[in-house]
Amino acid sequence: MRRPLGDAFFRPNYASDYSMPKVTFVKEKITVDAAEGEDIRTIARKNGVQLYAGPHKIVNCMGNGLCCSCDVIVKKGSENCSSKGLLESANKWINPLLGLKMLSNPEEDVRLGCCTKVHGDVEVETNPPINWHGDKFWN
Ligand code: FES
Repeated sequence: MRRPLGDAFFRPNYASDYSMPKVTFVKEKITVDAAEGEDIRTIARKNGVQLYAGPHKIVNCMGNGLCCSCDVIVKKGSENCSSKGLLESANKWINPLLGLKMLSNPEEDVRLGCCTKVHGDVEVETNPPINWHGDKFWN
């Protein structure tokens, strides 16, 4: 469709009206724009944020939700993230390391970066620790 003459001067630029989700990586202290529905792993990789620790920097499942090495804690904006799928939910029982992280951080929203799509602003913490000394770990 052809734009009417003078359109650029009198009408707002609709492309800039869409607000892009902002993802803040707390440890790295950076905030980046993301595309609607983009997963946290992709956003991190695009912006040079390392989600993986140790050997997983080289060996991982490349975002297929199988290795559980891209785990993050969603500090704020959980409501702006996609809900957990069957694979992500099952991984807590299959992968002991992810299960320990979830058990030891019961108040936190531990998610897999590659399975978590953002639809609004979120704050995430990469490489969450296992909270061995947490109040509720041994209960
Ligand atoms: S990259 Fe393997 S589970 Fe996310």
